[in-house]
Amino acid sequence: MLTIAILGVGSRGATTYGDYLNTLKDKVKITAICDIDKNKLNYYQKKYHIDAKNCFDCSDDFFNAKKLADVLIIATLDQQHYEHAIKALELGYHLLLEKPISPSIEECVAIEKKAKEKNRYVVVCHVLRYTPFYRKIKDIIESKQLGQIIHIQSCENVGFWHQAHSFVRGNWQNSKQTAPMILAKCCHDMDLLNWLLNLSPLAVSSFGSLTYFTKSNAPKGSAKRCYDCQIRHQCPYDAVQYYVESNQKNQNIGWPYDVVVLEPTYEKLKKAIQEGPYGKCVFDCDNDVVDHQIVNIQYDHEVTASHTMCAFSKDCFRTMKIYGTRGDLEANTLTNQIVVHDFLTHQTTSIDASKLSDDLSGHMGGDHVMLNEFIALLNHQHTHLDSSIEKSVASHLICMAAESSRLQNGKVIFLDEYKKSILKSID
Ligand SMILES: NC(=O)c1ccc[n+]([C@@H]2O[C@H](COP(=O)([O-])OP(=O)(O)OC[C@H]3O[C@@H](n4cnc5c(N)ncnc54)[C@H](O)[C@@H]3O)[C@@H](O)[C@H]2O)c1
Repeated sequence: MLTIAILGVGSRGATTYGDYLNTLKDKVKITAICDIDKNKLNYYQKKYHIDAKNCFDCSDDFFNAKKLADVLIIATLDQQHYEHAIKALELGYHLLLEKPISPSIEECVAIEKKAKEKNRYVVVCHVLRYTPFYRKIKDIIESKQLGQIIHIQSCENVGFWHQAHSFVRGNWQNSKQTAPMILAKCCHDMDLLNWLLNLSPLAVSSFGSLTYFTKSNAPKGSAKRCYDCQIRHQCPYDAVQYYVESNQKNQNIGWPYDVVVLEPTYEKLKKAIQEGPYGKCVFDCDNDVVDHQIVNIQYDHEVTASHTMCAFSKDCFRTMKIYGTRGDLEANTLTNQIVVHDFLTHQTTSIDASKLSDDLSGHMGGDHVMLNEFIALLNHQHTHLDSSIEKSVASHLICMAAESSRLQNGKVIFLDEYKKSILKSID
């Protein structure tokens, strides 16, 4: 029986991974948890039936207790991953490590080195690689029915409410405390581009900025908190409406409401919006991450890719268009459609990706597929598990080069030189 410890029993560590693993009782056992939030710790101790001596409210105590499982899931916040991953690798844990590996590319490379030195698996949670949707696209590319791929255009529509929740009011609002947007949100997209093209990225340039969610855009009559705002009924970002009033019947119990409070109810959400960070005016937060950014990538063999991230969409979804010499492919995660046009036969084939699996929960099914393949990997079974630390560091490198380019007004960053300078700095 594979044993698993979880560091950070929050939205990812518990709601996504722990809760699912807890249903696989014949394969895995959760033996230890750690979280600085005692309410969560108590709640999940009971839920997962964990011995009290293996529940820790401080990561130092958790690591001092030595190795308590075969695997450690690290689902703390971005800037804590490095310290937690290095300590865990020293103790001999295999790791399931949340993305981003770390906001610092030097730390990403250092974790990769440590994993090699200790001969441990470090699988990074690039869950989109595991979705039936993107796996189908990969199969189509590999079947060569599109011919040679010349360009990929990908777009991440963040969703105006998701941007406000996570990147203006929430955990990922400030790049100095967490990671720049292009890493925090789009490392999945850079990972997908590398994986789908299976080519070396050579150079990157990027533009983007935080244009809207700034103090100078606060409208007349607005207040520091939505509850005190006279014009909140005219604001699409009104937290009272989004978190509280829409929940009169206690229907909103899942994400993102369970990020605001544990086991949300109308009363608990009301209090949190009156007092906590999610009730702040979107024009008066400590946010600095961009609300739109574009990235251009030059790959080997003159193949190009472009990625757009933008906050201002009604829904939260991704699109992709793949341009091949014999056909093109259009994909949309909102409609679950993958449409292929064949230039020779003029035939159009539509694939409804929602029919590719019975379980499309959690990142279009990717969360659970990844967990199952991770378990298979550790049980020495055949698996397609592909998001190794090496590949993830390579796609993180694109993100950090893009951020560096953006901060230098779109300067072209050559990845070879960029990587060399990073390796030099950690040697
Ligand atoms: N793979 C994905 O698609 C995906 C999606 C969302 C978030 N993430 C990543 O997952 C990680 C966790 O995000 P989340 O949404 O679960 O956040 P969260 O805030 O819900 O959970 C983080 C948990 O870590 C705990 N914590 C903080 N500091 C700690 C410490 N020093 N020791 C122990 N516990 C500590 C917090 O109390 C919290 O319970 C982040 O790195 C995030 O970027 C990945």
